[in-house]
Amino acid sequence: MKRVLLIVSGGIAAYKALELVRLLRRDGVAVSTVLTEGGAQFVTPLSLQALTEEKVYSSLWSLTDESEMGHIQLSRAADLVVVVPASANMLAKMAAGLADDLASTVLLATDKPVLVAPAMNVRMWTHPATRAAMATLRARGVHVVGPEEGAMACNEYGFGRLAEPTAILAAIQALLQPSHPLAGRHALVTSGPTHEPIDPVRYLANRSSGRQGHSIAAALAQLGARVTLVSGPVGIADPPGVTVHRIETAEQMLAACTAALPADVAVCAAAVADWRVTAPASAKIKKAPGAAPPALALVPNPDILATLSATGSMRPQLVVGFAAETEDMLEHAQAKRTRKGCDWIVANDVRPETGIMGGELNEVHLVTAAGIEAWPRMPKSDVAGRLAQRIAEALDIAEALDIAEALA
Ligand code: C5P
Repeated sequence: MKRVLLIVSGGIAAYKALELVRLLRRDGVAVSTVLTEGGAQFVTPLSLQALTEEKVYSSLWSLTDESEMGHIQLSRAADLVVVVPASANMLAKMAAGLADDLASTVLLATDKPVLVAPAMNVRMWTHPATRAAMATLRARGVHVVGPEEGAMACNEYGFGRLAEPTAILAAIQALLQPSHPLAGRHALVTSGPTHEPIDPVRYLANRSSGRQGHSIAAALAQLGARVTLVSGPVGIADPPGVTVHRIETAEQMLAACTAALPADVAVCAAAVADWRVTAPASAKIKKAPGAAPPALALVPNPDILATLSATGSMRPQLVVGFAAETEDMLEHAQAKRTRKGCDWIVANDVRPETGIMGGELNEVHLVTAAGIEAWPRMPKSDVAGRLAQRIAEALDIAEALDIAEALA
């Protein structure tokens, strides 16, 4: 029998944890519970005990709890640790590695997968401190479900409402039965900007953060792929379980990509500089008083996506590119797919009014030979997860067709 260790932290949404317990028990999942001091303000140990049919743990210091089941044993016995609701305080403590009560101590000590379902007021959710905590937790491989947008208990409307218990249940079930449809596959992902030197201290660059590419690499790894991530200079953590090659220039990115072949799939999410300086100076260019600024002669960089799409027998079975457009998005994306010779283009509208650039949510269209699919607005990490899932399906179909052809 699978076992979940459920941590209920403070917040009005804590009552929904009871419904989640009911759904888990219905599905035959055993549930041990840790109730934080804040959580106990909203649900009682008795209701959790009645629904889980197990003792509810709350104190780090209770000698009986420690002797019956210490915090290490609590997490050791579970297949998955789930925090519902995850308050802003709990997320901040997790990110900082604090261990000042039973829940945070378990979370620091566990080596099991962790799923958090954040719930809080919209301003707490969008506060830079919570943003930073979430970025840290995601980079560490913590799974996240929700929050959702909607009316909140505090009479406000916005992003921060706890995901529905059925959505949390689905996320738990997916993690309890990890499927690895990409096991044995090699995925190559490019991410981040490139830096093109002007002289030893100056360079041309762009504002790409690498978040989209890195989250795709993480999502592919989660589905069991061996992932090679070729990344330009970024300020975010390496995705867990991924081999990262750090490069600076487009030419280095191309060399690292071709060296990583063969691959079953290539996802080019990097914002490669279109041009590089023809002849970077070998010494720092001096600014002489009164002298004219240096003229920069530029040459086009290699197109990595187009090159990978045309590597003959070494071509990955599936090559995916990105198109960030500000006008006539779909026409441009379709034209780009043909021009670059790739199989799919993930197109997004990056006009400032969409709030997508630098934002939390993304709304993409998947452009394939079969047509255009509009995906709903969702967190960027969910776009990565869904894309990885689609890649797994496409490679499976391609393999089935190959086998059928070989047998014909
Ligand atoms: O032509 P454009 O830069 O709009 O194309 C975007 C797509 O092409 C992205 O997938 C990007 O990673 C890829 N690209 C590339 N090498 C370049 C330029 C773009 O791989 N030199």
